[in-house]
Amino acid sequence: MILKDKVAVIYGAGGGIGGAVARAFAREGAKVFLTGRKRTAVEAVARDIVSAGGFAETAEVDALDEKAIDKHLQSVISQAGRVDISFNAVGIPDTKTLGVPLAELELELFSLPLMSYATSYFLTARLAARRMVANKSGVIMTVSATHSREGIPLVGGYGPAQAVKEALTRNLSAELAPHGIRVVGLRPNAMPETRTIKNAWEPRAKATGMTWEQWQQMLASRTHGKRLMTLEETANVAAFMASDQASGMTGTTVNLTMGRVDD
Ligand SMILES: NC(=O)c1ccc[n+]([C@@H]2O[C@H](COP(=O)([O-])OP(=O)(O)OC[C@H]3O[C@@H](n4cnc5c(N)ncnc54)[C@H](OP(=O)(O)O)[C@@H]3O)[C@@H](O)[C@H]2O)c1
Repeated sequence: MILKDKVAVIYGAGGGIGGAVARAFAREGAKVFLTGRKRTAVEAVARDIVSAGGFAETAEVDALDEKAIDKHLQSVISQAGRVDISFNAVGIPDTKTLGVPLAELELELFSLPLMSYATSYFLTARLAARRMVANKSGVIMTVSATHSREGIPLVGGYGPAQAVKEALTRNLSAELAPHGIRVVGLRPNAMPETRTIKNAWEPRAKATGMTWEQWQQMLASRTHGKRLMTLEETANVAAFMASDQASGMTGTTVNLTMGRVDD
């Protein structure tokens, strides 16, 4: 168990990636504190973890609300004594911007993902860092997407928002690594089993006359392995990155695009 007795807080834990990461962390022995905007989705993940013999607590926390994040972290520390891992897996709904050309996009809609992703990652990282500095140890993590490195049309401010997260990962690391805190991100390729990818790409597939299966094959054909990653594979890498076995890794976003995007 590579995360035995580590204390992890996960934001957006009711989502595809947050849920998978929570399960992997718990399987590796971490005590996981799962948070989400709505408790129902988070509770379903916690039930799975507890029935598999793990430890999971849930809370309703808006990861854009500084006071709510701070209060929750305080309660985790009161209960578990410290926080070792902070993982921001929040996904901001983008149905109003997907498919709209940048030249026609309203500023407010363009700014929404930029502001939301940057604010949420900044707040969760900063508030965790303040606690971790005292212990001279901790790992701060988030997830970005291939859009940070590729020109992808019709995604509004989503692409720039992913690049912002990767830049923030580097800058947080430059300041926090001297205090024993590692800051690392994951950049996974599309995982079609998630609602994010289905909602984003299924209408595009239909519009181009492709079936959902053909669309997935087209995406898979761009990887070296000619297949797409699974949530479990992404979560397994996250568990390794959160563990002391990855003690040499900081200030970087791990490329999980299976060869689609070169570093
Ligand atoms: N899925 C993929 O294949 C993939 C690949 C690469 C990158 N990514 C990126 O990874 C991130 C997570 O993706 P995902 O597929 O796991 O998305 P998801 O299934 O939609 O999960 C996102 C979670 O974030 C929660 N959330 C949204 N706003 C929140 C807030 N203010 N406070 C707390 N929780 C909030 C959502 O809650 P609600 O349900 O209440 O909205 C949801 O549970 C996104 O940035 C996504 O773009 C995903």
